[in-house]
Amino acid sequence: MVKLRYITSVLLDITIFNPSSISVTMTIVSPSMLSSDFSRLGEELVRVEKAGADWAHLDVMDGMFVPNITFGPPVIKAIRKYSKMPFDAHLMIEDPIRYIDAFADAGCDMITVHCEAKGDIHGAIAKIKAKGLKAGISINPETEVTALEEFLPEVELVLVMTVHPGFGGQSFISDCVPKISWVKEWAKKNGREILVSVDGGVNAETSKTCVDAGADILVAGSYLFKMQDMSPTISKWHRS
Ligand code: DX5
Ligand code: ZN
Repeated sequence: MVKLRYITSVLLDITIFNPSSISVTMTIVSPSMLSSDFSRLGEELVRVEKAGADWAHLDVMDGMFVPNITFGPPVIKAIRKYSKMPFDAHLMIEDPIRYIDAFADAGCDMITVHCEAKGDIHGAIAKIKAKGLKAGISINPETEVTALEEFLPEVELVLVMTVHPGFGGQSFISDCVPKISWVKEWAKKNGREILVSVDGGVNAETSKTCVDAGADILVAGSYLFKMQDMSPTISKWHRS
């Protein structure tokens, strides 16, 4: 079986069967715009897309769920026209159900909420899906992986945090890596297609650890944005 994953304007998974049993899978790269130059956010999106990125990871922080504030739907709406890449919104906000409509209308393609956030998280996921978007659930480093279980039948994406959410440029917490394989195992056992994304401290070494554990998507901010040209790294990660 040859498995090819093509990324188009939305997530698309194509499996082609043939007699040989080679498996070729492309890792999705989703640069975190948190490390971009916010005064030129539109141009930074163009730079990332030209470098071969698949998705744009948008870190939304409310100053309550995390001790930092970034941007919200009006900014996302303003930058939507700069890129055709799917917008992968990571909501680090309390009671996210209040804002799902606004983020969907701003042009997000995937919305991920935290299992630790206050409010109706199942309701938020249902609302994301009712808007026709892909839904994700994210988990903080200190949260037991089993906290995800009640949400897994409802989501297409799991975002494993490998740093404490709130800031870019922190060191990778390797204790979180077993969560990646745990989710992939759960999905296999339960016959569900769930993509696992890893967020925080992803670099040349840690990206390999994550992909080896089964990660489908690499989110990286500071490591990619400090490069003049991120395209060789993105191509390398695609093939990892
Ligand atoms: C942290 C964010 C991450 C962050 C990753 O709360 O969710 O997306 O931008 O940044 P790096 O890659 O620098 O750890
Ligand atoms: Zn993030």
